[in-house]
This record gives sequence, C-alpha cells and structure tokens, in this order.
Amino acid sequence: MARLVVVSNRVGVPDGSARAGGLEVAIRAALKRRGGLWFGWSGRATDNAPGPAKMVTQDNISFVTIDLRKDDYEEFYNGFANRVLWPILHYRLDLAEFTRRDLGGYFRVNEYFATHLEKLLKPDDVIWVHDYHLIPFAKALRERGHKNKIGFFIHIPCPPPEILTALPNHEQLVPALCHYDLVGFQTETDSTNFSRYLVNECGLKRVGDDSFIFEGRVVQIGQFPVGVETEAFSRLARRAIESGFVREVLESLSGRAMIIGVDRLDYSKGIPERMDAYERFLTNFPDWRGKVTYLQITPRSRSGIPEYANISRKVGEAVGRINGTFGEASWTPLRYINKAHSRTALAGLYRGARAALVTPLRDGMNLVAKEYIAAQDADDPGVLILSRFAGAARECGAALLVNPYDPEGVAIAINRALSMPLTERRQRHDQNYRVLVANDITHWAERFLATLEGPPVAAGDPPVARAAGGR
Ligand code: F6P
Repeated sequence: MARLVVVSNRVGVPDGSARAGGLEVAIRAALKRRGGLWFGWSGRATDNAPGPAKMVTQDNISFVTIDLRKDDYEEFYNGFANRVLWPILHYRLDLAEFTRRDLGGYFRVNEYFATHLEKLLKPDDVIWVHDYHLIPFAKALRERGHKNKIGFFIHIPCPPPEILTALPNHEQLVPALCHYDLVGFQTETDSTNFSRYLVNECGLKRVGDDSFIFEGRVVQIGQFPVGVETEAFSRLARRAIESGFVREVLESLSGRAMIIGVDRLDYSKGIPERMDAYERFLTNFPDWRGKVTYLQITPRSRSGIPEYANISRKVGEAVGRINGTFGEASWTPLRYINKAHSRTALAGLYRGARAALVTPLRDGMNLVAKEYIAAQDADDPGVLILSRFAGAARECGAALLVNPYDPEGVAIAINRALSMPLTERRQRHDQNYRVLVANDITHWAERFLATLEGPPVAAGDPPVARAAGGR
C-alpha cells in the first residue's frame, strides 16, 4: 500500500495538550489505522528565519512540523485564512477583511509548505491535504513536477457561487482546487455549491456526475461527511462518567439537569444567539428556574483577530446579564468556562448532560454533536438540540433540529428536550447512533482514500458511463 502523507495547517503532535479542533481529532483517528506522515505548521511564529523541520515519530505516524515567520503567520493565518476565507466560507461576507498583502502571504506560505514537503516526498506517496488554509497547495506541488495522487478535504462549508464570487481575486484562488485529483466536501449542499461555481464561473465541462475537466486533467468531487470514533467514544464516556472530575461536576449540580455546550470561541458557533435562547427559555418557562444548569465550555481561539475579541466580549456580557437577572445565591443558571478540557473529561460531561446545545450559525459538520450522541447511555439518553445549519444535521435528523436565529424556537426546543419522555429519547438516540456507527471515522477515511486511489476517470468518459460505474 502506498504511504499516506497528510498535510494540514494544524498537526496533532502528541504533546498532551487538550486542543478542541475537529480536524485534528478526525485526522488522528484516520491515521491511527494506516500510519504515515503528517506534515504542517508547528503552531510557532518566530521573529527570525525559521529553522529546519522537526520530526517526532509515535507508533506508526511521523509528525513533521515547520515554524512560520511572524509576518507570514500574520498574513497567512490571522489574515487571509481566518479574516477572509473563514468568514466568507461561513457565509459571513459582512466580517471579511480582505487585503492583497494577506492574499500574497497566503500564497507565499503555501509555496513554503510545498518547498519543505517535497524534500520528504516519494513518487508513489498518496497525499491528503486538509482545509481552507491549503487551497493552492496541490498547484504548488504540481508546478514543482509532482504527479502523485493528491486529494483535498474541506472541513468547513462551501457557500454558493453568489457568495464565493464576492471574494476578491476568487478567480486566482478557487479554481486552484482543480489541481487536486479529488476534492471532498462534508455535505451535498457544499459539493453542489462548488460544482455550480466550476460550471458557472469557470465554464468547466462535466464528465459523469461528479468529475470535471480542467486544463486537460480530471478533477473529481464528492461528499464524505466526517464521522467520529463512535464505539470507542461511547466506551470512553462510560468510563469517564465515573471519573473523579465528572462526579465532582455532577455532584455540584445538586440534582439539577445539566445542559451542555462545547465550542471554540468563534462567531460561527452562534454562542451569543444560544445564550439569548437560554435567557428566553428561563423567561418563558419559569418552572425550570433553579432546576437546570447550562454549562458552556468555550476554549479561546484565534485571539489575535479583532472579530474574535468582539465575540468574546459579547458572550461575556450575555453570561453576566443572564446570571445577574436569574441567578440566586444558591444557583448559577449559566456556567461559562474558557479552559480546554480533555476528550475524556468531555466524554463524561456529555454523558452526564440531559441535553446538548449545538447551535452554530453555520458549520461544516460539528463533531461535538456526533460525540454527544456517541457518549449517551442508550437506556437513558440525553437529547441533542442541533442547528439545521450544521453539516451534522443531515445525518442526525433524529435530533431536535432548530434554527439558531430563532431564540424563541430554540427556547421551546430546550423545554421539549428536558421534558421528553424516555421512549421518545431512546428512539431518537437509537436512530442517530445507528447512523454514526455506519459512518464512523474509519469509514470516512477509507471511503475518501479508496476514491482517491481508485481508477481515474478518463477525460473522454461520457457522463452516463461514469454515473453507472458509481463509487
Ligand atoms: O475545522 C476547522 C478548523 O479551522 C481546523 O482547521 C482547525 O483545526 C480548527 O478549526 C481550529 O482552528 P485553529 O487551527 O485556527 O485553532
């Protein structure tokens, strides 16, 4: 089997830290089985010229990381990736802060990554690139003469061309994805949006249902909804609820029902809107006052970016308002914590929570939703309240699906979740759990790689033949 080389901005180097990003969790689980090399940024920005790449090997995975120069980090990570691509791909044109300088830094860092990676590449390596930081990465490798199979998976949403085209210089960036052999998306909506872009904006010709011809080569697109380690996470939660930490948290509730939310501090997660909904719930369903505690765990994220400082302030204000208005000396309605927690601690807390609020305004998938389901006790499960705008809503249709922009609707769903009869809770959980077992993380990685490594579509294949061939 060819060696697998994974490339992503963040690399899950085993250092004992409890970071919350879904991408790291997914890739680590995918690499566990096959082994290989994982290449990307070290997480360090230096004043001086960065030193050579560093390698750590554990089990059958080699982790290779490189530092970034401070100005590269500013323009690439804080600038173009997280102040332009992140908001635009999450449908937030209002928050995008485009500069040509940052775009230049973004391309420069992609070249820099390619220059380092090519020193390690073998001709038959299969390369799997992840996320919006690395859109032009395959192009940079192709220009250096590499003919390897290269796949790309985007963990976050892909908006319709009407939004993508508002990105200045999109013509320079988005079509660069066609240098990959396979471009994978979380949901059908995302892949359809991208296909529409290729047809409408680039005038590409379709081969089969899911491939296009670009500069004489074929690029295939597909949907690969990312999963979790469903059964392993379920076992972890069973053990974790007995841990000293989780017991202490549950005991501190004094018999009150717990609602949980776990998100990076990011405006796409809809945290202030969710807090408004909780406030509405306490207002409209006063019988629950004093009987419920909402625990929101929110590690800080990208704090060098002004929009993130704004969201931090907004959330802090909402927490103060809610606790000030409804709290009692003996009851804090909302506990808000910025500390990152280990996977084990989260698994136990999920299992102990009667309901989870996963209400992003827009999300590629959202693995918290899936992990919450996996963590439940099938005999007495909690209820997932899930935004219809999270990719996970496609598979977890038995959750209580809500519109995060409608606080009254979310308040009603909270009341419904907390009052739901056991039979209904079991039915909903069972339905969701089965879907997550059928499409767990191994399945996701295997399906993506099988498609990438499978027989290529010939540029001359007629659409019907390809459609009948399937995958
Ligand atoms: O899933 C989207 C994503 O940007 C990942 O690429 C990343 O691991 C996670 O969110 C956390 O963001 P960051 O790497 O900027 O801390």
